[in-house]
Amino acid sequence: MSTQQWWNHAVGYEAYIRSFADGNGDGVGDFVGMLDKLDHLAWLGIDILWITPFYVSPMRDWGYDVADYAAIDPTYGTLDDFDAVIDKAHRLNIRVLIDIVPNHTSDQHRWFQAALAEPESKYRDYYVWADAPEDGSLPNNWVGYFGGKTWTLDEASGQYYLHLFLPEQPDLNWRNPDVLDEFDDILRFWLDRGVDGFRIDVAQALVKDEQLRSNPQIGPSDDSMFRWEQWDAFDHQHDILQPESVDIFKRWNRIASEYGALLLGETYDLKMLDKLDRLVSGGDAIHVGFWFGAMHMDWDAGQIRSTFDFPLSQISAGLGWAQNSHDEHRSVTRFGGGDVGRRRALSLAVLLLGLPGLPFLYQGEELGLPSGELPPEAKLDPIGGDDPNAGRDGTRTPMPWAPGPGMGFTSPGVEPWLPFGGRTDADTAEVQRNEPTSTAHAYRELLAVRRSLTSIAGEDLTWIDSGDHVVAFRRGDIAFVANVSEVASAMPFDGDVLYRSDAGTGQTLLADEAAIVRVRT
Ligand code: GLC
Repeated sequence: MSTQQWWNHAVGYEAYIRSFADGNGDGVGDFVGMLDKLDHLAWLGIDILWITPFYVSPMRDWGYDVADYAAIDPTYGTLDDFDAVIDKAHRLNIRVLIDIVPNHTSDQHRWFQAALAEPESKYRDYYVWADAPEDGSLPNNWVGYFGGKTWTLDEASGQYYLHLFLPEQPDLNWRNPDVLDEFDDILRFWLDRGVDGFRIDVAQALVKDEQLRSNPQIGPSDDSMFRWEQWDAFDHQHDILQPESVDIFKRWNRIASEYGALLLGETYDLKMLDKLDRLVSGGDAIHVGFWFGAMHMDWDAGQIRSTFDFPLSQISAGLGWAQNSHDEHRSVTRFGGGDVGRRRALSLAVLLLGLPGLPFLYQGEELGLPSGELPPEAKLDPIGGDDPNAGRDGTRTPMPWAPGPGMGFTSPGVEPWLPFGGRTDADTAEVQRNEPTSTAHAYRELLAVRRSLTSIAGEDLTWIDSGDHVVAFRRGDIAFVANVSEVASAMPFDGDVLYRSDAGTGQTLLADEAAIVRVRT
């Protein structure tokens, strides 16, 4: 089925709504602000817009703690404002994915409130509870994605509830058929309003081991360690990627199919690709599984190759690719910052746009933005302790749209919810769109060239032997090549250059330059 899907040759764009554009001058992004900026996405050549959660939320995890899945948080506007964004996006030929958060709710959700207040009600079993062991220990040894323990005591009942994230994000019990019914209705509610699909938050979790067995421990772990070190100290056999999850996504797939909608799962897990494969395979569950390897690698030919090869060789269905998101430091910063970081990020974009699958940009990536720099007192992310660089705020600073106070993000004189983090006039969309040699124009041209190469959609990736300095692969007669070194290097083939990210000439690639080439055969 998959070859004819509308997302097949598309390019996506993630808008972190809080920091995208503020229309009502309260310093927080919203739908009215977004409406105004959709033209920018059309100018850039975007096909799919993914909007991060906008539901009613106490904002402990900035919207990934949902208190009502069928209502818009007043900070972001009204359902009418939402409808206007969907309508305009569709008129611009942009499809819209919304972020659905099924692993957990907010502790303020009425289901959880009822579960606490009336333990006899049906809502108790919407969540995952465990009796307190007599020896005073926790129900099992699971650690959370944010580090730390995953169990919090409900003192009234003496039972613990499970949370893979914050204590304010209790995990739903996906073994309860009522929870499945509730989410069927939620999906239909938004599909009926015209959304084109869902980005499924933490899709690799959802169902938990029925007996809540402890995970085998494979390394040392304590609460003071960095959250991923704590996570990697366990073999996650029982908390995530349970085989029953695929049944949920098959059910969602049947609903999505009625509307021609896309299911894009947050499915990144390095260690259990065989289990992940089940979630995305066959086209009858999750259509596209996000792979975040490009957010966790160095600028190194071997690492780039293995980052691409690993999921491509083991996951049989669609893959989503991104080098940036609202959860990780921006790639310009990760790859060295400044002009070097910017050149490398653009080159990596050339490669990601060449891979089989669905590439996504994150807002501001097209402007070549590094992570915003924040003073410790500005920190708002609940994770990462006191260190502003350990949390996710740096990647979430507001979009710089135009020079001047408010930077076109909010009204002049209004403090944005997070500081701009050191943005300059040259960083803004307005300045870059008026300057043909800007990063924004480089991305726009890249997307236009890639769009024209419809023939690659049906072609598998073939690696081209290219040594330590250069990464190169083909899709049919089109090659994607990047020089991952500090010296000029030759392309390992002859051809007509269709796009280049820098100023090299002929078959020469400057340091960190990438190109798209029609190979002469
Ligand atoms: C996902 C989101 C992240 C959020 C978490 C919990 O990983 O991308 O921002 O904190 O899920 O919902």
